[in-house]
Amino acid sequence: ANSFDDECDYLFKAVLIGDSAVGKSNLLSRFARDEFHLDSKPTIGVEFAYRNIRVGDKLIKAQIWDTAGQERFRAITSSYYRGALGALLVYDITRKATFENLKKWLHELREFGSSDMVIVLLGNKSDLCQSRQVGVEDGQSLAQLEGLCFMETSAKENVNVEEAFLQMVTKIH
Ligand code: GTP
Ligand code: MG
Repeated sequence: ANSFDDECDYLFKAVLIGDSAVGKSNLLSRFARDEFHLDSKPTIGVEFAYRNIRVGDKLIKAQIWDTAGQERFRAITSSYYRGALGALLVYDITRKATFENLKKWLHELREFGSSDMVIVLLGNKSDLCQSRQVGVEDGQSLAQLEGLCFMETSAKENVNVEEAFLQMVTKIH
């Protein structure tokens, strides 16, 4: 273990899930490194990023896993979810299909994830409101129905990204 691990009070694993191109990798790069890429490529397999977060007097190391939305690029599902305490479930407010597919993702979460996982639903790309196909109230009512936290985000304009990850970590804690 390096010195940071020794200083850290907790290590939390969380996962990003949702359809391809909803912005999972950009939400993570914005949170972990304050980077956004307009031309990012689809994720293949699994990637990780870490960020240290202070919650009250505790130092938490958040380990965030990011995988492919595309089925053919995904790694073994059970290992992806193993040990995860939180999940960010992402759709794209400009593509209705990504919202409709949330049923499938919730099913997978409940099959492979632990029952007490904190799930935050994110409607991403809120900067593209002229092309909106999913209303804020649709996201809110699904979240209420399924018992999830909910927020609209923009990885591009850095809106609610920090808040989304912090809400997840704080609720775990
Ligand atoms: P997979 O890895 O295939 O599952 O996709 P992903 O969910 O990781 O999507 P990714 O982060 O690669 O983003 C897909 C595209 O959407 C890229 O062109 C991003 O630049 C763009 N994008 C991501 N977030 C936003 C956002 O908040 N606003 C806008 N306008 N574009 C975004
Ligand atoms: Mg990706």
